[in-house]
Amino acid sequence: MISLFKKFEGEGILGINRRIGEYILPFNPREYYPLVDDKWKTAELARQFNVPMPHHYGVVDTFGGIRKIRELIQNRPGFVVKPANGGMGNGILVIVRESESESGSIHYHKVDDKTLSEKELHHHISGILSGLYSLDGNSDSCVLQERLECHSFFQEISFRGIPDIRVIVFLGYPVMAMLRLPTKESGGRANLHQGALGVGVDLRTGTLTHAVCNDKIIHLHPDTKQTLSGRVLPHWETILEMASRCYDMSGLGYLGVDIVLDETRGPLLLEMNARPGLGIQIANRMGLRDRLRLVEKIRNSADGPKTRVHRMFQEL
Ligand SMILES: Nc1ncnc2c1ncn2[C@@H]1O[C@H](COP(=O)(O)OP(=O)(O)O)[C@@H](O)[C@H]1O
Ligand SMILES: [Mg+2]
Repeated sequence: MISLFKKFEGEGILGINRRIGEYILPFNPREYYPLVDDKWKTAELARQFNVPMPHHYGVVDTFGGIRKIRELIQNRPGFVVKPANGGMGNGILVIVRESESESGSIHYHKVDDKTLSEKELHHHISGILSGLYSLDGNSDSCVLQERLECHSFFQEISFRGIPDIRVIVFLGYPVMAMLRLPTKESGGRANLHQGALGVGVDLRTGTLTHAVCNDKIIHLHPDTKQTLSGRVLPHWETILEMASRCYDMSGLGYLGVDIVLDETRGPLLLEMNARPGLGIQIANRMGLRDRLRLVEKIRNSADGPKTRVHRMFQEL
C-alpha cells in the first residue's frame, strides 16, 4: 500500500498521523469506542435506532456456554461465528451447512468447502473467548449471526462470499465509499488484509470506478474475470443515508460504516469502525482531505441524515 500511497501523494491523501491527530482523536470520544468495537453492543444500539442488521442467533460469553451453541444454530440454513471484538476478518467462520456422518458425528461446511468437526468448532470458539482474535487482546465473546446470501448484483463479481460497502462518514456527512469484494484468497471475507478487492465508488451515483488488490491496480476480478467499473450499486441513496445515521447512533465524528446488501431486506449494517483504514483513497485514486475540509465548511448541525446526503450530492 505504501508505494501506491506515494504515487498519489500530493493529491490530498490523508496519512496515518493526520488521520489520528486531526480526525480520530478530536472527533471520536473514547468513551464511545466500545459501542462500535463490540459487535454485540453495536447490534443492541442498532435495534434501538431501528437500523437493520443481519439477524443474531445469540452470543456465547463463557466456556460453559459453548455447549449451548447446538441449540442456537438448530435448523438454521447456515451461520457465521464472529469474535465480538475482532477486526480485519480474523476469527470469522462462515458455515454454509452441516452434515451428519453415518456414525452420527456432525460436520460443519465452510464457504470454501472445507469442513470442521464439532470438536474443532468448539475449539475455535474457545480461541475466540480467550481473546485470540480480539482487537485489544483481552478475553472476548462470540457472536452467532445469520449467514447472508450474496445479492444478485454481486453474483458475477464476488467469489463465494459477501461483499461489503465501506462508507467514510465525517460529522454525519458521507465523504468517500469503497466496495470490497471477496476473492478466492480472502476466504469469503471482504477484508482487504485477507486479499479482498477494494473498488472505488462514485459518491454521487454509486458507480464503480477503479479497483485494487494487494496493492495493485486491476481491471478484472481475479477469480471471476469480470469487469468491475461502470456497474451501479443498487439502493445507493439508502446506503448513504444509513451510513450517515450511524453518526447520530454512535456519536463518532470520523467513522467507517460497513454495509451489506440483502436481496430482500436491502441494505443492512454490518459493523462500524472508529479507526477506518486509509486504503479507500487508493481505490478511489483520490485523497480524503478536500472532502473532509468541504464538510467542515458546509456542515449544519441541524441537518438530519437525508439532508446531509443531499447536501453532499449538491456539493460534489
Ligand atoms: N453474516 C455474514 N454472512 C456472510 N458473510 C459475512 C457475514 N458477516 C461477515 N461476513 C464476511 O466477513 C467479513 C468481515 O466481517 P465483519 O463483521 O466486518 O468483521 P471484521 O470486523 O473482522 O471486519 C465481511 O466483510 C463479510 O465478507
Ligand atoms: Mg469488517
